[in-house]
Amino acid sequence: MTKLNVRVRGIRPASAEVRVLELEAANGTPLPPFTPGSHIDVHLGAGLVRQYSLCNGPADTDRYTIAVKRETDSRGGSAAVHERIKEGDTLEIGAPRNNFELRDTAAHYVLVAGGIGVTPILSMARHLLARGASFELHYFARSIALAAFHDELSAPAFGGRVDFHYALAPEATRAKLRKILWTRRPHAHLYLCGPRPFMDSVEDVASATWPPEAIHVEYFTADQDALAAPRGSFVVKLARSGGDYVVPEELSIAQALAQYGVMVDVSCEQGVCGTCLTGVLGGEPDHRDSFLTDEERRSCDKVMPCVSRARSDVLILDL
Ligand code: FES
Repeated sequence: MTKLNVRVRGIRPASAEVRVLELEAANGTPLPPFTPGSHIDVHLGAGLVRQYSLCNGPADTDRYTIAVKRETDSRGGSAAVHERIKEGDTLEIGAPRNNFELRDTAAHYVLVAGGIGVTPILSMARHLLARGASFELHYFARSIALAAFHDELSAPAFGGRVDFHYALAPEATRAKLRKILWTRRPHAHLYLCGPRPFMDSVEDVASATWPPEAIHVEYFTADQDALAAPRGSFVVKLARSGGDYVVPEELSIAQALAQYGVMVDVSCEQGVCGTCLTGVLGGEPDHRDSFLTDEERRSCDKVMPCVSRARSDVLILDL
């Protein structure tokens, strides 16, 4: 994976609990281009790597902008960004990757964001605005004070394309979503990002009128129900490098292989970022990630070894 050194050019608040970091190349050169919906890996020291969506527009070649929410139950990333990183610091990041691509062919875009899920959606909105494309953005937040980028999205440049929805209880959220998604304009596509219960609601409501191929989602947290499902041990066979290895119930495939000195690239270790994607040549995966599509799951030829397991006694990997 290509790594880059960047300097923290500026830090500012985007809401009462979100901090924005502007990153520029440490050597002053232009940064690699990116497309809306991209994210970067940010190396935060001591092996801590977190993925953050780029929220500026792809026309910016001199900086990447990320926004990080302060989490009370931080696994380390949020605390590092809010408490340790300061202007002028140098960080190592990965080159942008995109698992949430905006199709150029849609006639209209409906962008739906919940909370900090606004970050990739904002990059999309900036890009669509610059292109003069037809779009609307619906932003669900707990309050104005907690709606990151509220002032920017309310500015005349967005020309009233952004609707804010505050402090709605779950049933009121579903009612609002039914109103927004009840009709689908011809060739419209829906893009959504937010906390998992919110995403589940949007997908559920949208599925009544929108075909699956027009619904595009990005998860940034693990599917806790899938992760909590019963686990057993199984054997992983490595087709290219050889060797059979037992994966005990308390370890992931990636963790078990690492114990034997076989390293699989991992990043989020939650099944959301796609870094550890590995080919399957035999056996049946027990998918527990939030990255693969339903069609990819059914094909049984890929697995995310940071979280997924096996339904068969033996899983043969393309490693
Ligand atoms: S490391 Fe992110 S999906 Fe496996």
